[in-house]
Amino acid sequence: MTKLAFPDGFEWGAATAAYQIEGAVREDGRGVSIWDVFCQQPGKVLTGESGDVACDHYHRYADDVALMADLGLQTYRFSIAWPRILPFGAGEPNPKGLDFYSRLVDALLERGIRPCATLYHWDLPQALQDRGGWADRDTAKRFAEYGAVVYEHLGDRVKRWITHNEAIVTVELGHRVGLLAPGIRDLRIAGRALHHVLLSHGLAVRAFRESRVGAEGEIGITHANTSFEPADERPETAAATELARDFRTRAYHGPVFGRGYPKSVLDFYAAQGCPLPIEEGDLEVIAAPTEFLGVNLYSRQRILPDPESSVGFEHAEPTLPLLDMGYEAAPHSLGDFIRWVTAEYDRPKIYVTENGVCDATPLKDGAVDDTLRLDLLRGFLKGLAEAIQDGADVRAYYVWSLLDNFEWAFGYAKRFGIVWTDYETLARIPKRSAAFYADVIRDNAVEA
Ligand code: GCO
Repeated sequence: MTKLAFPDGFEWGAATAAYQIEGAVREDGRGVSIWDVFCQQPGKVLTGESGDVACDHYHRYADDVALMADLGLQTYRFSIAWPRILPFGAGEPNPKGLDFYSRLVDALLERGIRPCATLYHWDLPQALQDRGGWADRDTAKRFAEYGAVVYEHLGDRVKRWITHNEAIVTVELGHRVGLLAPGIRDLRIAGRALHHVLLSHGLAVRAFRESRVGAEGEIGITHANTSFEPADERPETAAATELARDFRTRAYHGPVFGRGYPKSVLDFYAAQGCPLPIEEGDLEVIAAPTEFLGVNLYSRQRILPDPESSVGFEHAEPTLPLLDMGYEAAPHSLGDFIRWVTAEYDRPKIYVTENGVCDATPLKDGAVDDTLRLDLLRGFLKGLAEAIQDGADVRAYYVWSLLDNFEWAFGYAKRFGIVWTDYETLARIPKRSAAFYADVIRDNAVEA
């Protein structure tokens, strides 16, 4: 069997997020987050569920770290719940919240697993939402203060930091279409959220540089990505695909890489009567140098022109089989996007901070034979290895996710874990894909 090797020193990990796995939402002084409130509103989560218990990781973290070690994970990406650290978003830090993450980090280091901490994976303290949330410029300042608190307490041991997870999701799904918390549907507020989230990234990077530990660690941002493909060969389709990239990709990457917002995006918000609330100096703050780019990617999208639409493009019909999430099974999309982003932004250093497969194959006779996930993961990794051979600077890969967990507005029905979570007993059962992934890690290679 031929194998495609990854570079020496390539790191293999898994990713999770606080609200999706921790549970214990009312314990040890944790404040209320926008997700607690959102889940209580009837109809918001398809299954009526919440993260109240989730995988109970808050109590089982030590076992989960042992599981990671069994799989051979070299790094683990988790997120810190802002309301555990600052229950009201600002003010006095909660020592018990800090202590939880401190114990988690120690457990990881004891097993030789490198921690990678995300500051914001969508669980804004409700107290800040009550004052306007991301629509309010002050929230960006509060975010940097929160960052400073965690750098101070964990930065002696955590050396890899991610400011935001998927700003586009916060903006578009949280504030424009309202499918995720805080459930707002308002273009003006979405535009404000866009700029303030990116501003908060820049301020949090600055706070990191100014912190006691800033010199030793690395910090970056993780964006959600789709590999956009023109649905046909026409020049107008190529132009529409560039518009899709402007609105969905460059609007988030551009400011961080010092290129500002795309003109098409600035013009769009202005034409809708709500120009982005950019103040003097903001773009310099957002463009603060970072050590890496976090790439999350799950699928591709084919694009067609749509002169009727205010953004000028639309999604073409899918042609590949659909996954449970409604998007296409497109394993080539990871390598394609990595190549694109490498060319577009002059070969940034990249960590793939999420990639994975929704596959609800059930537990049968004590095992989960998730061949769909396994095959697609193999395809994603093959494309990634080829992109690296072609010159992309990718240093790590984090599979989403370690465990089946609370999939936001879809509840627990959608399963992304390489480990099965039994929500009755909270037992963890590694799936077939976990054994596959352990082999990839051991060999630092994937079947060609
Ligand atoms: C993300 C998501 C994760 C999801 C995953 C699967 O960062 O992309 O928010 O939390 O669970 O993407 O949909």
